[in-house]
Amino acid sequence: MAAGRARLSASILDSDLGNLAREIRRAEKAGADRIHVDVMDGHFVPNITFGARTIKALRRVTRLPFDAHLMIAEPGRYVGEFLDAGCDSISFHAEVAEPLEPTLDAIHRAGRAAGLAIKPATPVSVLEPYRAKLDIVLVMCVEPGFGGQQLMRDAARKALPARELFADRAWGGEVHADGGVNRDTAEFVGACGFDILVAGSALFKRGHDMAREVRMIRALADEGFQYQLNAGQPPIPRENWVTFASLPRAIGRRLAAEIEAGGVPVIQLRTDGRVNPDGQRDYDLLIPATAEARVEERWAASRQRADAEADAWRAELERAATATPEP
Ligand code: DX5
Ligand code: ZN
Repeated sequence: MAAGRARLSASILDSDLGNLAREIRRAEKAGADRIHVDVMDGHFVPNITFGARTIKALRRVTRLPFDAHLMIAEPGRYVGEFLDAGCDSISFHAEVAEPLEPTLDAIHRAGRAAGLAIKPATPVSVLEPYRAKLDIVLVMCVEPGFGGQQLMRDAARKALPARELFADRAWGGEVHADGGVNRDTAEFVGACGFDILVAGSALFKRGHDMAREVRMIRALADEGFQYQLNAGQPPIPRENWVTFASLPRAIGRRLAAEIEAGGVPVIQLRTDGRVNPDGQRDYDLLIPATAEARVEERWAASRQRADAEADAWRAELERAATATPEP
């Protein structure tokens, strides 16, 4: 599986349509995480692509999930066919002139993920009444209908309000960016906070090395996201920091404060190591590699005390957990 945050869904809209099976295998080999299938009916958008039977025939070509993006005027009428075709998720447009709920329910009844897509001019607020029924919000960053268009930045900025729709859940809920994602826009799109980036023409452009394009878009998106988290500053290069101690959070915080008071910056990050009896992981205390010798010299004894304190604390918790209650 790919490292990093952003996942990439390859839109086959602008692939070699005479060789769709081969193009999907090519996208899989290039490292795409999913396949995005754009269904257009010539009514909702001024273009016609492929339907459920084509998708069904392609479904067995790969084990990658299929995300269907229905740009059709009557999703309720056809949703059954797309479920039957084996789509793992189905997103349709919130702008259609029919009730949305029955279609969302039908998708859920089939055990698939349900999404609503919004055009660039449609505000996220129209999705509010449906939030409990949404697994996906698909934010169109171009006018739907064609690949190869320019990303609209204001549309991409809807990622954050879209994410808010999922704020009341501990997990689940994806925000997709669709349209105009390429190596020039990936950093910006990543900074907007999308989970899934849909890329079409950028991947299937003749002469492009698709695997390289996939890696580049993902890496740039991750970098954009990290910068955003870090208030626009370059993210902390972890290779320049070393772990001085790993301690339960409260004890670590005290040691960190002591070192900081001595003029050395400390970062506390949750480690992937030891889990304590209270269910919380230890925290690593990171110090600049350049200060390592000084910190070792001056605070080794403090670390020893903190380690002993942590051991005693863990033992006490364990004792309390196994002690039989008084009659
Ligand atoms: C546009 C489609 C997009 C499109 C993306 O209506 O929904 O999925 O294929 O293509 P690019 O990446 O070329 O903008
Ligand atoms: Zn699409």
